[in-house]
Amino acid sequence: MDNLQRLKETAAVVEKCLDKYLPLRDTYEKTIYEAMRYSALGGGKRIRGVLTLMSCMMAGGKAEDAYPFAAAIEMIHAYSLIHDDLPAMDNDDFRRGKPTNHKKYGEAMAILAGDGLLGLAFETVLKNAVAGDKTWDALKLMSICAGPDGMLGGQVVDMEAENKEIGYDELVYLQQHKTGALIKASCLMGAVIGGADEELKNKLELYAKNIGLAFQIKDDILDVEGDGDVLGKPIGSDAESGKSTFVTACGIKKSKEMVKTLSEEAAAAVLGINEYGDFLAWLALWLAERNH
Ligand code: IPE
Ligand code: IPE
Ligand code: MG
Ligand code: MG
Ligand code: MG
Repeated sequence: MDNLQRLKETAAVVEKCLDKYLPLRDTYEKTIYEAMRYSALGGGKRIRGVLTLMSCMMAGGKAEDAYPFAAAIEMIHAYSLIHDDLPAMDNDDFRRGKPTNHKKYGEAMAILAGDGLLGLAFETVLKNAVAGDKTWDALKLMSICAGPDGMLGGQVVDMEAENKEIGYDELVYLQQHKTGALIKASCLMGAVIGGADEELKNKLELYAKNIGLAFQIKDDILDVEGDGDVLGKPIGSDAESGKSTFVTACGIKKSKEMVKTLSEEAAAAVLGINEYGDFLAWLALWLAERNH
């Protein structure tokens, strides 16, 4: 199967899992289910969920065993986006081609929808994954990568670096945490559930580290020279908020070179291992060239 077709089909599987684990409810608090579904479903590339399923299969596991984790990491990602867009953070009005959660449901409900998705991510795994050591280890990865040692910590550094010059190491830390951490969790949770040995885990960790950093540098480039209609989110948001990015630190040209080098290094870490490794290698290069 063509790689792009495979990406689309796997993303559709992730979407179906989300739909299943995040149903509407006819209860007093039904608005929160609507608001959570509004942001979590019907948009997004589903890269994190795809990484989880593919890493699991690369390790020899069944994709089905990783379904709750693929849905959970996308829920955590959607939560991070809802909160990232809030007026107190990046103050953005569009996401995935439609008004942001707080524009549609108001700030209070958007905060709660983010909180709800974070909680539901853990509930989804605990209710649907097979109980055992692998699930325990994957949950540990998910908690650490979502929290103050992971994505949330990166968001803190990102907010505190607004309208300020920070050093290169701090910038790498910021990017590797706010974005790299969930990408790392996506790959390593799949690896753990699929039963990967240490060697494969190390390869996937190297892969994730490189695509994670490349992913955010590319996002920063698209914020400057992307097309808002294709991206589904506003361009120029970083400049408006005075963000510290690779583009502000190194310029567009150097940033593009970094995306290319990091993506090639990522691809080299997994290429030739099996068909799933080859797909992941292709995905690293596809992400580097993406326009959304
Ligand atoms: C956007 O992530 C936020 C970042 C971490 C850069 P994605 O580009 O994966 O967003 P969706 O899920 O496809 O909308
Ligand atoms: C987002 O970085 C990182 C997280 C949401 C954790 P950005 O703020 O650059 O993401 P976009 O550009 O709003 O999607
Ligand atoms: Mg942000
Ligand atoms: Mg943002
Ligand atoms: Mg951005």
